Amino acid sequence: MSQTLKAVRGTRDLLPPETALWNRIEATARAVFARYNFGEIRTPIFEDTGLFARGVGEETDIVSKEMYTWSDGERFEKHKMIDEWLKRNKPDGAHVQANRSSVEHPVIEAQLRAVGVDLVVMRGVAIPGQQLPGYVDELVCFGPVVSNDLVLALKKGGELVRNDRNRELRAFGNLRLIVPASVPLTPWVDRSEVIVEQFDGEFFASSQSLTLRPENTAGVVRAYIEHKLGETGQLQKLFYIGPQFRRERPQKGRYRQFWQIGAEVIGPPSAGSESPLRDAEVLEMLATLLDELGIAGWTLELNSVGSAADRARYNDVLRAALVEVAPKMCVDCQRRAVTNPLRVLDCKVPEDQPIIAALPVIADSLDEDSKAHFAAVTAALDAAGVPYVRNHRLVRGLDYYTRTTFEFTHGGLGAQNALLGGGRYDGLSEAIGGPKAPGIGFAMGEDRLVLTLLGQPNEKPDPLPLVAYLAPIGEGLNSANIALASELRKSGLRVEAGEGSFRLKKSFEVAEKSGAQKIVILGEDELASGILTVKDFATGVQSKVPRGELADFLTK
Ligand code: HAM
Repeated sequence: MSQTLKAVRGTRDLLPPETALWNRIEATARAVFARYNFGEIRTPIFEDTGLFARGVGEETDIVSKEMYTWSDGERFEKHKMIDEWLKRNKPDGAHVQANRSSVEHPVIEAQLRAVGVDLVVMRGVAIPGQQLPGYVDELVCFGPVVSNDLVLALKKGGELVRNDRNRELRAFGNLRLIVPASVPLTPWVDRSEVIVEQFDGEFFASSQSLTLRPENTAGVVRAYIEHKLGETGQLQKLFYIGPQFRRERPQKGRYRQFWQIGAEVIGPPSAGSESPLRDAEVLEMLATLLDELGIAGWTLELNSVGSAADRARYNDVLRAALVEVAPKMCVDCQRRAVTNPLRVLDCKVPEDQPIIAALPVIADSLDEDSKAHFAAVTAALDAAGVPYVRNHRLVRGLDYYTRTTFEFTHGGLGAQNALLGGGRYDGLSEAIGGPKAPGIGFAMGEDRLVLTLLGQPNEKPDPLPLVAYLAPIGEGLNSANIALASELRKSGLRVEAGEGSFRLKKSFEVAEKSGAQKIVILGEDELASGILTVKDFATGVQSKVPRGELADFLTK
């Protein structure tokens, strides 16, 4: 038996009834985003690798270790090769009759093209528009590799010319297959009657490095730049819902394909994009959203990583402080201590934690503007009644952050306790070649929202009840049963239509297993009288209900 295939490690299938909870979360998020005047953006799932290297930062864990990156296959540039071959081998163009597509013999020409012959080299000069007898010198195919398909194309072409019924084509010469010198010649290819020739030159377009998106902020900012959204002069308020990919070690709440619900507020400074009120508004929206989702007991952790200049200053302070202690830390920290000291604060190695706790805090390196910005954010949060705690170590694992950084955490999640994370990224647009476009945003881990909700008492993944199972007695009643189900469904009820070939006992068993609250019996008598028999599984009570009152009765 062949080996069974499973979902790839770190990925998973989402199934009902849990998917109903996913849908509810997404519907609630969409409703809240709409009230805060956000519109949806959908960016591609893969992007040029350079976007993440420049946007998220080469030294971050995400970019240096966790991306799914591949080279998007080299492209064989056939026309470049044909031009070069003609230039070198047939400098007298007239003899080739410029014949990439014409042997001045329409029928044969189309047939040759159809079988895959690239070039017909003619001897003698043909006059365009006139059908003179042609002397075919050779048929040529160009390929990225020697394949039996190409050999076959040439041989078929040869047959066509040889069998030219009008005998307009004569004196047939070679079948020639030209391949780039850089590709090895495969030994299993049939080379009888065909001359295979290797040809020097670069005939492959350079490949592009692509990456499955590990996050969506860089993609949104790329789209903002590409579509010149800044030129509207308006703040762009964009939300997204979709999968992201990181090659992390899978564990509870951490997957290699996971879902984010995120939003970004970005625009030119003239639109107010730098204002601390934007930060406060985003945070207040998140508090509202988590409350509406029914997530109890979240904590908002807040910090400021300052401006680019503050960060540079803090990096120097940290670098100096790390000189003495880094040798006692993990190898990653030893490297980061030199390349990007801020990332030391992300370290999760338990032995390093006391050392990190004793390092200088970024708050002491902030300039007056950054301090004032942070103070304005907290003042607005206080006014809106959104509680928060200051976490001096919260520098976040992506390089683009400036000023406000935040995470909403939840105790029920264990080690991966961040429900969501975000912050301000005032220099990201410029870092990827765009205009000045300060912004702030966040992304929630949807997988973690689901875990948190399922961990709460009384949480039902799918709260819509299956109110009834409709059991037809006998196959002859199947269609009447479907009509009854349709009626009830149109009035908004979730019902299951049973199967008339089941014996009554089996129908009861299936109905109970399906979780239906009641069973409705539809026999010949019920159909004729319009009075249905309904049994309530919870109470055991059996009732006779007129068809017109059934929908009301079932929802009681
Ligand atoms: P992030 O902190 O890397 O930020 O991810 C945001 C959230 O995505 C995390 O708090 C977590 O809930 C979830 N998450 C991350 N990795 C995984 C994983 N492997 N499995 C399950 N959930 C995960 C960003 O991605 C930024 N783009 C957020 C942002 C938007 N900043 C500004 N704008």
